[in-house]
Amino acid sequence: MRFLVTAGPTQEPIDPVRYLSNRSSGRMGYAVAEAAIEAGHAVTLVSGRVNLTPPPPATVIPVTTSDDMHAAVMEQIANTDVLIMCAAVADYRPVTVSKQKIKKKSERLSLELMPTRDILGSLPRDRKFLAVGFAAETNDVEKYARKKLQDKHLDLIVANDISRADIGMESADNEVTILFRDGQIKKISRTSKKNIARELVKIISNMKKNV
Ligand code: CTP
Repeated sequence: MRFLVTAGPTQEPIDPVRYLSNRSSGRMGYAVAEAAIEAGHAVTLVSGRVNLTPPPPATVIPVTTSDDMHAAVMEQIANTDVLIMCAAVADYRPVTVSKQKIKKKSERLSLELMPTRDILGSLPRDRKFLAVGFAAETNDVEKYARKKLQDKHLDLIVANDISRADIGMESADNEVTILFRDGQIKKISRTSKKNIARELVKIISNMKKNV
């Protein structure tokens, strides 16, 4: 199977030296890419800027902004059996990007932001590939994850609680709840992102066989 995996944060420029971003380390996405390769799949990794080495056989497409990531995913999607959106895509970007460095002044400064394009939300509905999302939540984890699964028409969503310091963002471990379209739920208790990724790839590979 051909896996298209996105990983890491996007960066949305404010001026030539500054950007808006988030704390995503990219580890979950890289672990999924590695697990898919281990399981014998072909992997394309669309990666935001992270400090990680991609697993060698993966085709890597480096991106910076949410627009870059959107374009890369749309370009690759025709050659994909499974899209796994692990990336922490910025939800907003500055309306204008200053060409020159913004100079410090003593008054307050407001930045006007506009929503970025939702990559999962803009996928074709009559698609032949599986679409998998991640939901990073601080509260009401399952409720919000189920809403994203439905709103974004996903086949499966992997939810994690980012209010906990010991798992999730910037951590080597994770603990997730996987929600399926038919209402099924599967929990994976705290373990390394590598183990979570292996389990996830196994689940997805079996789903594809049933499609
Ligand atoms: N996602 C996406 N495009 C965006 C934002 C998010 O494809 N512009 C994807 C993420 O990669 C993830 C899923 O949507 O797989 C859920 O992302 P998340 O940030 O948890 O949800 P949002 O839809 O951004 O909602 P909110 O930030 O309000 O929780």
